Amino acid sequence: LVLRCSLCGSRAFTRVRYSRLSLCRRHYAEFFERRVKNTVERYRLFKNVKRLLVCVSGGKDSVAMLYALKPYAEKCNVELLGLTIDLGIGDYSKRSVEAAVEAFKNNDVEYLLVDLSAEYGFDLDTVAENVEKLRMPKGVCSYCGSVKRYIFNKAALDSECDAVATGHNLDDLLSFTLTSMASGQVDLLIKLQPKNRGVDRLVTRIRPLATLTNRETLLYVMSIGASYVDLECPYTPERSMQKTIVEKLSEIEHRYPGFKLALYKSLLRVLRKTEVKTGPLVHCEKCGMPSSTRICSFCRLKSLMTERIGEKTTETRVTARRV
Ligand code: AMP
Ligand code: FES
Ligand code: ZN
Ligand code: ZN
Repeated sequence: LVLRCSLCGSRAFTRVRYSRLSLCRRHYAEFFERRVKNTVERYRLFKNVKRLLVCVSGGKDSVAMLYALKPYAEKCNVELLGLTIDLGIGDYSKRSVEAAVEAFKNNDVEYLLVDLSAEYGFDLDTVAENVEKLRMPKGVCSYCGSVKRYIFNKAALDSECDAVATGHNLDDLLSFTLTSMASGQVDLLIKLQPKNRGVDRLVTRIRPLATLTNRETLLYVMSIGASYVDLECPYTPERSMQKTIVEKLSEIEHRYPGFKLALYKSLLRVLRKTEVKTGPLVHCEKCGMPSSTRICSFCRLKSLMTERIGEKTTETRVTARRV
């Protein structure tokens, strides 16, 4: 028995259980792209956006975001500029950057390549080494997160983009939120939203895949045959509360299709009725970027790391490549 596409009758590629449809590759890709478009419209992600910085790591999510967003952005007259950061995590970063660049080229999107080490004098491998040596208070991924957020924001300001898009999907947002709540960090609930409007020099953040699951996103990149890196960062802990939550939510989703999205929408409604306080922003005394402390976390990390490396020459260079 061969399952047939509910729309065209050709061989089915997958079944979308909560809408009771079997779809061929082409119709699945269209279905996914429509879902992304609906998310952009429903949450007004392109409102006041003329130029959008699309951050692509080379992983399936951000690659999917770029492919799904490109034709629709064009229709809406939103200009895309790509960004990929070479974090200096050995072979993992090398392959990730290659995949991101391939995605930019295939989509005819101009892009920036920021080499963390060349531009700021340290890389993530150095951070990882010192997290243990110096018994730094947080894990590698947490420092990496602040490095990425800093560079996204700075690149957006420097290249006059009105917003930054990342590939966070429904599983990422739900698991991050539940983990934050379980550790009492209620303020972080605000990051659940598909859009966080910018203030001052903090650029607006959008998450066009907010309503799509890990699985749906993976099926999309497979359906269009896009290449992506399916390696996990070597610094990702084998086990974590966030990973466990994703696993458990997926078990529930399997039994009750549509569960994740329903939970997400309800949490957004609760959030709308809540006042989440965010601390006051100041400008970092070193770099002038928005920060909650006198010296921003990026500058503190950078000083600590470059001290450790010694006085290695750090010529400043942003490698902006045009297609
Ligand atoms: P992660 O923090 O690795 O879960 O990534 C979340 C999102 O941040 C991805 O979907 C990308 O949009 C973006 N991102 C992560 N790493 C990079 C990178 N090295 N360069 C550009 N964007 C990235
Ligand atoms: Fe940042 Fe792994 S990608 S620590
Ligand atoms: Zn079909
Ligand atoms: Zn700073």
